[in-house]
Amino acid sequence: MLVEVVDNYETLSDRAAEVVIQQIREKPDSTLGFATGGTPKGLYNRLIEAHEESGLDFSKLTTFNLDEYVGLPPEHEQSYARYMWSNLFNNVNVTESQVHIPHGMAEDVDSHCQWYERRIEEAGGIDLQILGIGANGHIAFNEPGSSLGSRTRIKTLASKTVKDNARYFEDQDMVPEYAITMGVGTIMEADEVLLLASGERKAEAMKKTLEGHITAMTPASMVQMHRFAHIVIDEEAASELDYQHHHGIVEPKDE
Ligand code: F6R
Repeated sequence: MLVEVVDNYETLSDRAAEVVIQQIREKPDSTLGFATGGTPKGLYNRLIEAHEESGLDFSKLTTFNLDEYVGLPPEHEQSYARYMWSNLFNNVNVTESQVHIPHGMAEDVDSHCQWYERRIEEAGGIDLQILGIGANGHIAFNEPGSSLGSRTRIKTLASKTVKDNARYFEDQDMVPEYAITMGVGTIMEADEVLLLASGERKAEAMKKTLEGHITAMTPASMVQMHRFAHIVIDEEAASELDYQHHHGIVEPKDE
């Protein structure tokens, strides 16, 4: 694992952008995996800047998102599709045919999930998958207890997640109880995973992920098994670590 601890969220976003921009420059027809949430917003802003200021070209990429709420149409304010279009795709040269986001209104969810897996395979697999992490150690919507070999499927949201989400919805009937998510196994097949975490709220989860046992109770801990996991976290998210991680060397903090 390559673990980089940086000062703060801004530096984290700069570093993540360097990695993604290098990937796009070296292989313009890359297949990229995207995440939603607060963490990658700084990265997406920097990608937009690179497109506007130095012509970073998105036109040959294929993209796959990690997850989507079941029951929300893509145009819904809280859908992950809407998030991706407003936070990134609408601001760079990407067209719909390049983009894959699980469809929240799919009639037959199981076959949609199988189709999604097939599309990833047909695209030659994901070159670089961006990941955030939940305070409980989840990646995508693989909550604690998720099989570490899981594939794209429908998951029931933890009751805490449903309650937390309720505040974003005027119409309480629309608060999603299910999501479609890539599985931990699907994510682990990406050639490189770039896991980003910022803030004290993530410190405990990062300790379990990097220094704990590999366990379904911390799905993110599976990055320890990945052949190229690149982890960029800020000082606050690293504050619970017992070891210093520096360019692949791991040593106790007091040495
Ligand atoms: C989103 C996703 C989630 C988030 C995680 C962290 O597509 O897969 O696992 O990455 O919940 O969210 P933030 O970044 O909002 O703390």
